[in-house]
Amino acid sequence: MALLDILLMLLFLIGTLLPTFASFFPPYLEGDPVEMFVTSLDPPDFRGEVLYKVEFTLNSKAGIINGMIHRSWTDFEELQRLIDEDITINPGISLPALESVETLNNYLIEGSQSPVLMSSQLVSDFLGINWNGENIGFDLSLIDFLETLGARVPAFAPEPPIFDNEDDVILNSETPFEVYLYLRGMQSKVTINEYLKYFESFIDTCPSFSGDANDNDVSPPSGPVEYPTHFNKTFVHFLPGGYLNGRTVRISYLGSNKFNFLNETRLVEWLDKLHGDKHPKRILDIGTGPGFSAFALATLYTDAEIIAVDLSAPYIRFARRWQTLRNISNIQFFHGNAEDLSWLESESFDFINYAYVLHEMPADNAMRILSEIYRLLATDGTMNGFEVPLKENPEHRRLFSDWSTFNCDDWNSDGPKGPEPYMYEFEFGTNLTQSLVDIGLKDVNVIDFAYFDSIYVGTK
Ligand SMILES: C[S@@+](CC[C@H](N)C(=O)[O-])C[C@H]1O[C@@H](n2cnc3c(N)ncnc32)[C@H](O)[C@@H]1O
Ligand SMILES: *[C@@H]1O[C@H](CO)[C@@H](O)[C@H](O)[C@H]1NC(C)=O
Ligand SMILES: *[C@@H]1O[C@H](CO)[C@@H](O)[C@H](O)[C@H]1NC(C)=O
Ligand SMILES: *[C@@H]1O[C@H](CO)[C@@H](O)[C@H](O)[C@H]1NC(C)=O
Ligand SMILES: *[C@@H]1O[C@H](CO)[C@@H](O)[C@H](O)[C@H]1NC(C)=O
Repeated sequence: MALLDILLMLLFLIGTLLPTFASFFPPYLEGDPVEMFVTSLDPPDFRGEVLYKVEFTLNSKAGIINGMIHRSWTDFEELQRLIDEDITINPGISLPALESVETLNNYLIEGSQSPVLMSSQLVSDFLGINWNGENIGFDLSLIDFLETLGARVPAFAPEPPIFDNEDDVILNSETPFEVYLYLRGMQSKVTINEYLKYFESFIDTCPSFSGDANDNDVSPPSGPVEYPTHFNKTFVHFLPGGYLNGRTVRISYLGSNKFNFLNETRLVEWLDKLHGDKHPKRILDIGTGPGFSAFALATLYTDAEIIAVDLSAPYIRFARRWQTLRNISNIQFFHGNAEDLSWLESESFDFINYAYVLHEMPADNAMRILSEIYRLLATDGTMNGFEVPLKENPEHRRLFSDWSTFNCDDWNSDGPKGPEPYMYEFEFGTNLTQSLVDIGLKDVNVIDFAYFDSIYVGTK
């Protein structure tokens, strides 16, 4: 081989290999597809299938732009199947008998000559364009929620992001692929096992937020934390391995685009509306997760000392790193089990908050957290909980629970469960309204905010 050939080949190798070692967040593209090509064979993605690189041009608002997506042979077969199924867009093309860059390139070039096919939703989906799942949220009403459940999912997944470091998990906004993942999960009732496999193999590509052995780097002064058994058995939101798997933190973090009380602006707005007149000096945030609720408290109460605990060590690492990136310094994040915070002194907090925590566990565990809240609150202290509503109408309550658990009341049973596997426990066991009174809180008040959201307030 001539030296020049070797050099060119090396350059080519570096060129094709480099992108897999750097984070990559596929841009969202909108426009009318003009031409499409298959330009190379690339390494497999998280599904383990070899991929063809499809490059295309779009007529966009900014003029002609280029785009790229990876598709497997199975994707091409699916494309042909869907073309055959819809005679209105079928230009009479058929898949080559043998797959190769060249044969598939010719196939796409032939398809590019059909204006009807090129302007179809199918081709947009195949190219991973013109869909970003905007407005997919679980915002206000039952109607909004049903719309989300019925929302169109593209026939093909958009290009997945690639992470090579933890900061990119924090600093990059949601990609269309991640919206697609969420929506498919919510709609997966009858295809749950297939979905879980797909979800897990993607999650495996995310950074792990791991730390010292025994999680010593995030331990509270009392030492390593013990886990209640449910926490490592039945996982919320389909998260593979649950919150203990730090590779799920990105997905939980993106929940802020979808759930009312993971939106920091809204949390600050409501904390201010309900408690802006108070001046707590010491605040506890329970189940702080990625930290939205703790940051909202830090924004509103800039002079307070805030302690934020979570049962997941990786999530605490995420929150600490995020705090550093935001130059905030009045929150101390610790790994901790809110059922036993004996390392924190009784009556030492004048404000205790939680956001979306108590509905994610069996009723007994929620009751133990409530008694810790009472113990830790100072006299005249305030408890504020952003939590799912207790549906008073028995039929609503049943419906709410059934949908959340995919009709499985018992979180401890075998088999797949819905996105909120403990909702039966919360709706039929915890009775949060009653329990807040029972533990001894005064002035208990529940504000109905939206279909998935209430605010529970009480004082000691
Ligand atoms: C939906 S997330 C909360 C979101 C968070 N408040 C925010 O604003 O970003 C629920 C969190 O509760 C935590 N959790 C569940 N049981 C817990 C317990 N016993 N003690 C502490 N945290 C717990 C989970 O690890 C998870 O991070
Ligand atoms: C959770 O369960 C998995 C699977 O049984 C196990 O490998 C892992 O060590 C457990 N994690 C904790 C923190 O108990
Ligand atoms: C967050 O809440 C604010 C205030 O209610 C709202 O204006 C904004 O649209 C919300 N952001 C998202 C992404 O939903
Ligand atoms: C944090 O501080 C650094 C150094 O002063 C600065 O470069 C950065 O922009 C700040 N970040 C934020 C989010 O304020
Ligand atoms: C919960 O307790 C309250 C207060 O006792 C009661 O009014 C309400 O009916 C109970 N709700 C459910 C769903 O059990």
